[in-house]
Amino acid sequence: MAKIDISLEHVYKTFPGGTRAVIDFNAEIEHGEFMAMLGPSGCGKTTILRMIGGLEEVTEGRIHIGGKDVTDLPPSHRDTSMMFQSFALFPHRTVYENVEFSLKMQGQTKEQRAPRVWEMIKSVDLTELALRHPNELSGGQQQRVALARALISEPTVLLLDEPLGSLDYSLRAAMMVELKKFQRELGITFIMVTHSQQEALSMADKVIVMSDAVIQQIGTSRDIYENPKTKFVADFIGNNNLFKGVLKSHSGSIAFVENGDSLFYTRLPEGQRKISIGEEVFFSVRADLVHTGIHEDMANRVEGTYVTTEFMGSLETDIFEVGKGHFVHVEQHRSGRDKAYKMGDREFISWPAEAAILLQEPDVERD
Ligand SMILES: Nc1ncnc2c1ncn2[C@@H]1O[C@H](COP(=O)(O)OP(=O)(O)O)[C@@H](O)[C@H]1O
Ligand SMILES: [Mg+2]
Repeated sequence: MAKIDISLEHVYKTFPGGTRAVIDFNAEIEHGEFMAMLGPSGCGKTTILRMIGGLEEVTEGRIHIGGKDVTDLPPSHRDTSMMFQSFALFPHRTVYENVEFSLKMQGQTKEQRAPRVWEMIKSVDLTELALRHPNELSGGQQQRVALARALISEPTVLLLDEPLGSLDYSLRAAMMVELKKFQRELGITFIMVTHSQQEALSMADKVIVMSDAVIQQIGTSRDIYENPKTKFVADFIGNNNLFKGVLKSHSGSIAFVENGDSLFYTRLPEGQRKISIGEEVFFSVRADLVHTGIHEDMANRVEGTYVTTEFMGSLETDIFEVGKGHFVHVEQHRSGRDKAYKMGDREFISWPAEAAILLQEPDVERD
């Protein structure tokens, strides 16, 4: 089994004044893993990161790093290093001086520091720029300085708060690849906070999706995309269609959900079978798994009215209104299209039972 670098057990944070920033946070992060914490602004991501780094006190719960309980230890006694959102470089120091900072704080002599600093600077490809100041660097170069400065102390875990947040859109894609490559080469654990679905899903081995101070789901990008657990995740990640209904019955891995005159068949994942018959439930169907027209081999069907088409490169999403204010997205490759719709056209939309998944509320202890 892989070594666990960080574990958080029932961690809560309530700020003075009463804001509950983190509620019942439980997670394990393996050594060498690239973990992303993804969620909208204000959901508690930075607070979690700061508690792991020791910059914020934990209200309740325990945090272990490398098997050691660090909950009550200061940052200097934790094997973590933090890269801040705005890079927070020292403006009056050169690249070299920024990078050497933490070694200097550790009391190393100039001679001890120099070879390590140069090596670090070389590894982020800044040798030529070592004597410049931050304001003489591009955003991408500043980011590399921040990375070098955070890594020089050889932390076991690097904590990154929106590391690409202040970069231009065009630079971000390149930096995503670079950061990921770095993490792989160094083999250290990265915990990255981001509100960007694209950053989280494309860079991380595992993603923790958060909303409103609680974990909604932990899983690989693929798992979160293919098997959203909660209504929030289904809504936030990918292009999913949400349906509401009442759970009528279930049998093995299939549930039957009634909505008005319609009965729908959905997947009922293991662990989600606590939901009781008669309860109001939501299920989600991926837009790329629904089809226009009647398909006899597909268990589910609704009728809707064509509204519009959204274009996204080679993908097109046809949007149909199936109930007042309830829109269903049908995503397909442009090359696969066989029909052009006019506004107001009536059409059936079909999908197989396996394309739908029953959702549940997040599983947390609120107090
Ligand atoms: N020092 C603080 N004092 C009081 N409330 C805070 C403090 N820091 C953050 N909060 C609140 O805690 C919640 C979570 O904040 P934060 O962790 O920064 O969210 P995120 O990083 O996901 O945007 C927000 O409601 C925020 O206003
Ligand atoms: Mg934040």
